[in-house]
Amino acid sequence: MEHIELHKLRSGEHIGKKVAVCGWVRTSRDSKNVAFAELNDGSELNHMQIVFDKAKFDDKTLAPMLALGSALRVVGTVEKGMKDESVEILAESAELLGGSDVSYPLQKKRHTMEFLRTIPHLRVRTNTFNAVFRVRSELSYAIHEFFHKNGYYYVHSPIITGSDCEGAGEVFKVTTVGYDPSIKSEEEYNKKDFFGRSAGLTVSGQLEGEVMATALGKIYTFGPTFRAENSNTPRHAAEFWQVEPEVAFADIDDIIGIATDMIKSIIAHLLEHCAPELAFFDERFENGLLAKLRHVVDSDFARIDYADAIEVLKKSGKQFVYPVEWGLDLQTEHERYLTDEYFKKPVFVVNYPRKIKSFYMKQNPDGKTVAATDLLVPGVGEIIGCSEREADYDKLLKEITDRGMKLSDYADYLDLRKFGSVPHSGFGLGLERMLMYVTGMANIRDVIEYPRTKDDLK
Ligand code: 4AD
Ligand code: MG
Repeated sequence: MEHIELHKLRSGEHIGKKVAVCGWVRTSRDSKNVAFAELNDGSELNHMQIVFDKAKFDDKTLAPMLALGSALRVVGTVEKGMKDESVEILAESAELLGGSDVSYPLQKKRHTMEFLRTIPHLRVRTNTFNAVFRVRSELSYAIHEFFHKNGYYYVHSPIITGSDCEGAGEVFKVTTVGYDPSIKSEEEYNKKDFFGRSAGLTVSGQLEGEVMATALGKIYTFGPTFRAENSNTPRHAAEFWQVEPEVAFADIDDIIGIATDMIKSIIAHLLEHCAPELAFFDERFENGLLAKLRHVVDSDFARIDYADAIEVLKKSGKQFVYPVEWGLDLQTEHERYLTDEYFKKPVFVVNYPRKIKSFYMKQNPDGKTVAATDLLVPGVGEIIGCSEREADYDKLLKEITDRGMKLSDYADYLDLRKFGSVPHSGFGLGLERMLMYVTGMANIRDVIEYPRTKDDLK
């Protein structure tokens, strides 16, 4: 008999019918005449109650089936459960697919997030992580859906690259050459290496995204990016996923509009398709989460000039750890004040000083700032980095040279400004930051199945 996924039984249409189901035992209870196992097969957040009549199952057969973590296949009749709208299964026969024992780490007590991080291979069997990864999957789908519906092409940028898009020196090296005392210089080392030059893991698919956008018009990349960031924070991972649309003929205002539409569209999708998970996070991790998300869909985002944001921060009366001055980058504490306390909603901070931003950003006529914006959201801070790109060959060439970047690495990129240069803009959304925002999870390590952070790789 073919088994049926548990979520398909919820409608009640199977009541009175015989079905086969499979899953793992999440909790169980044993009493004199009946025993209960709460089964979960990953197809929904809720568990399915399996009722064992002890007249049919002796204790010896039942005991291993009630062990937490065991995998079962049960054949039985679907019945109306005790609670409204719920169904349960009265077992007729059951098979132990894979046993478990008391050394299974997920026994009934509640575990700390820190402990659960030590068992990434098992933590996904808890309600919390089951819900996180179901939302992560749906979020990814919603992103694809948004871009597909709006006529974007999904393109794949390389993982191994020869350039540093952000120029922040956070590139992981890709090499096949080990320690060799006979190598006398970096040049010799690079020549010997696999590609005959230095190579690294991409920090962003943007540069290749621009290549594709200047032919296909509207594209997006969606893939893993890597940064050897030495910061041990709840928001930084060494490996994270980025969604990076790039749009030809779009200026900074156009791309801000696109980013806004995308955020609203994917949140609306999640409210519709992940209702039980979001309700769970609202109850357990962030009271008011659902109201917050609905508000994001229904209201405008705020927008403020970087220069004005500096004034707001100076007048806040807050004692910040890091200094607030025009020309300095905003730190997490500043971002959080602006979005959590001042605006109390998502805010685009626009026109940052040129010196603190990346080389490729369009220079504003004032010569001091660039047409760049970060989207900050309450509870997380920056989730999007966005800009119009410098389309002027001479300005870009000067910026690359002034910053001491290796010109030969950016020759192709400069060609885009030589042949049919057009205004174009794009942004990068950190998938995990977005997931933190929509679930209320406070640490990036808890929205990645295998988080990679400084001094930690499991
Ligand atoms: O602001 P960033 O550095 O922008 C870029 O990489 C651009 N090339 C994007 C573009 O315009 N195509 O990074 C974009 C986003 C950040 O806003 C943040 O959400 C996320 O990527 N991010 C990280 N997420 C987790 N861990 C890290 N170490 C991250 N660094 C950036
Ligand atoms: Mg950024």
